[in-house]
Formats: sequence, structure tokens, C-alpha cells
Amino acid sequence: MQVHIVPDAAAGGALVADLFEEVIREAGEAGAVLGLATGSSPLTAYAELIRRHRERGLSFAHSRAFTLDEYVGLSGDHPQSYRRFIHEHLVDQVDLPASAVDTPDGAAADPDLEAIAYERRLQDAGGVDLQILGIGSNGHIAFNEPGSDRASRTRVVDLAPSTIADNARFFGDPSQVPVRAISQGLGTLAEARRIVLTASGAGKAEAIAHLLEGEMTDQWPATALQQHPQVTVVVDEAAASRLTRSDARHS
Ligand code: F6R
Repeated sequence: MQVHIVPDAAAGGALVADLFEEVIREAGEAGAVLGLATGSSPLTAYAELIRRHRERGLSFAHSRAFTLDEYVGLSGDHPQSYRRFIHEHLVDQVDLPASAVDTPDGAAADPDLEAIAYERRLQDAGGVDLQILGIGSNGHIAFNEPGSDRASRTRVVDLAPSTIADNARFFGDPSQVPVRAISQGLGTLAEARRIVLTASGAGKAEAIAHLLEGEMTDQWPATALQQHPQVTVVVDEAAASRLTRSDARHS
């Protein structure tokens, strides 16, 4: 894993945006398949991509995108749905066609079937060229909570109590936080050709220490990434504060 410890979130966003730009340019007119995360971690990267689109003409016109997960029970136009989130914070502000962005349908009549269908749509697109990930304070990636199988595919998952607590900040009323989600599995994520994981703040420090210096264990799901050949980790000083080895690269 390549590790970058950055001074602040803006520097991290620029590094992540560089990776997206590279993948998009490499794909050319064939179009890149982008794996998009929601939540606060990718926001500086998305802001930088929007800036590069506006000021430097970075184009997403040929790209396609898949998001990681969606709350079960929320329709795509619900203010807290991840579909709405990704449209507001990226898609609607660049030239990525809305029709080229796929998200699991949290309001599907049968969420289990929707999970299987979503996995198939992702496979049919040829898989993800670059996947951006955040990480939960409990080490989850997408909504693969502790105990998730390393081979898991897109499925309906129960959110861990700590995830429900962490996400309550996005909901006015904590009792409104959904308790289940449709999430890409660890096995699904492992097939992304390139992965960039970004984290900031002391609340992520323990999870980052497990990811970079811990044993691979299903109790810290992100450690599954240790097996992936092309992972870049971009963290600020606070998220890196529990690392003990000195081989991480400051940039
Ligand atoms: C979001 C997702 C989650 C978040 C994680 C970190 O699509 O799948 O794994 O990346 O919970 O959330 P933030 O970035 O809000 O701290």
C-alpha cells in the first residue's frame, strides 16, 4: 500500500483528484468506471474535481460511476439518501451524465434482489477502474461491518450500532437513521483495479493503524485491502497519529 500523510484535507483532496484525473485520461473515449463513496471523507476530493472540471476542462462525459451503498428504506430523492448525496456533491456539478451513475435502489420492493441486480450491473460495466473509499471508525469500508466475509458480494447488511451513532449527525432525529443498507461486499471491492482510501481526524486513527500496521482480520474489515495490489491511502496527521512505523510518505 502506498501511504501519503498530508497536512490537511485540501492537500488530500488534491492527491485523490490526481488519481481520478489519471484514470479518466487513461481511459479516454472508452470511458472510465469510477467507484464513488459518500460521507464526509471524499468531499475535498470531489470539490477539487469540480474545480478542475470548471477551470481546467476535466471532463467526465465518457465516464460511468457506481456508488458503494445505499440505506434500505430511503428512496433516491430522500434528502439523506446516498444517491441524492452523490448527485449534490459531485454528479450535478460536473459533466458526468446522470444516466451514467448507478446507485443501489434503497426503496426497492425486494432489497435482496436489488443487491444481486446491482452487483450484476457493476460486473456488466466491466468492474471499477478506480474506487474511492472512506473508512468507518470501526474499520468498515462501504458498509462491510466487523465480521463481514472477505468474499462477500453486494448484499443487504445490518449497520453496526457504532455506524448508526456515527451517521446520526446527518439525520435531525437519530431514531430516523436507517439500520440496514445495501452495500458492495469486500469481495466486490477487491475487484476494483485501483483503490484510494482517504481519512481524516483522530476518530479514524485506530482504524487506520489496523489497516496499515495490523493483522488481517474480519474484525477490522478494511484490513482486507492488505491483499489488494493497488491501494493508495491518503490520511491527515490526526488519522495517522496511531501509526508507529516511519515508512509512510509525507506529502
Ligand atoms: C460511504 C461508506 C462509508 C463511509 C464511512 C466513513 O459510502 O460506504 O464506508 O465511507 O462510514 O464515513 P465519513 O466519510 O462520513 O467519515
